[in-house]
Amino acid sequence: SIRVFADICAMQSIDLNEKFAVISDRWNPRIVASLNGQDVKLAKIEGDFVWHAHDEEDEMFFVVKGRLELHFRDKVEVLLPGQMIVVPKGVEHKPLATEETWIMLFEPQSTDHTGGVETPLRREKSQRI
Ligand code: NI
Repeated sequence: SIRVFADICAMQSIDLNEKFAVISDRWNPRIVASLNGQDVKLAKIEGDFVWHAHDEEDEMFFVVKGRLELHFRDKVEVLLPGQMIVVPKGVEHKPLATEETWIMLFEPQSTDHTGGVETPLRREKSQRI
């Protein structure tokens, strides 16, 4: 059945280094797993992103490699590998990476990564890898 198939897919280990190896672009989150209506996404980022907020979704960032600056209107949080942060819904933020940085995102499937802001970096739909 579909349920059994989904369970089997979920019960295979996922190698993050293998997944990151197939990502060559920047700011294009790929889905590597889904659970409870949320997606686990991986992205390579470098440079400046757009200021945005997600009205309905909290968003988790976990840094795997590199260095992530998460800019808020009143402060900047710097995250290094092994560090994570949760951005609450409605809070404006802007990710910035001064070097190639690998991040894992955990967010509801409805989340638009630019918060609806139109930019050349915007992806309508995340690809599953
Ligand atoms: Ni965001």
